[in-house]
Amino acid sequence: MFDAQTTCLVVVGAQWGDEGKGKLVDVLAERADFVVRYQGGANAGHTVVIGDAQFILRQIPSGILHPRVTCLIGNGVVLEPENLFKELDSLHERGIDTEGRLYISDRAHLVLPYHKLLDAASEKSQNLGTTGRGIGPAYEDKYGRRGVRVADLRRLECARAALADRVRRANQLLEMMGSGERANLDEHLRLVERLAPRLLPLATDAGLMVYRAVRERRRVLLEGAQGALLDVDHGTYPYVTSSNTTAGGAAVGAGIGPTAIDGVLGVVKAYTTRVGNGPLPTEAGSPYGERLRELGGEFGAVTGRPRRCGWFDATVVRYATRVNGLTGLAVTKLDVLDGFAEIPVGTMYRLDGHSCEEMPAEVEALARVEPVYDVLPGWTQPTGNARKLADLPAAARAYLDRLEKLSGVPVRYVSVGTRRDQIIEV
Ligand code: IMP
Repeated sequence: MFDAQTTCLVVVGAQWGDEGKGKLVDVLAERADFVVRYQGGANAGHTVVIGDAQFILRQIPSGILHPRVTCLIGNGVVLEPENLFKELDSLHERGIDTEGRLYISDRAHLVLPYHKLLDAASEKSQNLGTTGRGIGPAYEDKYGRRGVRVADLRRLECARAALADRVRRANQLLEMMGSGERANLDEHLRLVERLAPRLLPLATDAGLMVYRAVRERRRVLLEGAQGALLDVDHGTYPYVTSSNTTAGGAAVGAGIGPTAIDGVLGVVKAYTTRVGNGPLPTEAGSPYGERLRELGGEFGAVTGRPRRCGWFDATVVRYATRVNGLTGLAVTKLDVLDGFAEIPVGTMYRLDGHSCEEMPAEVEALARVEPVYDVLPGWTQPTGNARKLADLPAAARAYLDRLEKLSGVPVRYVSVGTRRDQIIEV
């Protein structure tokens, strides 16, 4: 999708996350100069397969696997530093050189051990099915204006005082929530003192770097995490994550203006999955749900939880197209549908006896909707070796045409397997 007019591109998930953004970013990053993560944190698990090797990247942008690409972690990310260094060490062990290619916004907020204790404690009452990585509490601190940012580590004395206050507050909250866990101040102080010398050399004004890159017409890829239906404003609230996963969040979280963005690629699976709690209207019953899970390897990359699986839901993707301003669609995992005799596609909902073509605001309503299905013929030939649309069976092409029409946005990529080369550019 990069061309003379399109040099700054956002890649977002257009369902409930896990759409295969990692692979798409990996494919597009070959032509990029910069790849920027702009929201979320270690709750993401972007999987990239190169040859026989599988990489699961949680915080480091997937572009790191391309030696020419510079990777940035933007101000909108909540950074778990210990996990970041584990991820970096694991990349180094596998021969990936990151020297001079990874920078972190000095405005990014830190996820600290007390955030994870608070996440676990609030899960007991809220039962949202979070990843347990402290994401919600870290964003609460950010918006409550008591977060600890990467830049704060430059003045360790101030950071120590802030931590004493935050740990005391966290312990008060844990007590209020009836948790027996307590955050330990010494542990927090030792952690930041140990990590600061490694983190600070990577810390920079990442927004300025992105701004300059955009101005020089370098190719910039803004890599979203999670998906539109997990967006804190547009998702199935309260069963959402705590950041803006939609394209608007890309500008804020990377530190640039919205006018810098030239295009938005929405990634969707050829079917639908969701991990965590909350409604999933097109969830497939037995045996199809299990079959999709097994064939698609649908287990959470961060938590290992089995993903709930169902049919493509066009109401979801139309909505994601609207709230993201999608300019193109990438359909992934088409090969998982090989061998299904018939494939239902949810075209709209019925709610209380009426047609419903838009996403309702209340999860209670979404839990009650009945999807209206079109049942499309399946195909028997494997699609994994297709490299252009014409290589696909006619029924698979018809399936893609239907998704395109229902979503209202052109299909630009089709992924037919986990490997880098298993991609069709339309
Ligand atoms: P949190 O982001 O850990 O607070 O979790 C909130 C919700 O978002 C839960 O339903 C999680 O399962 C879901 N979630 C968070 N990150 C991801 C992801 O990368 N893929 C899919 N679901 C996610």
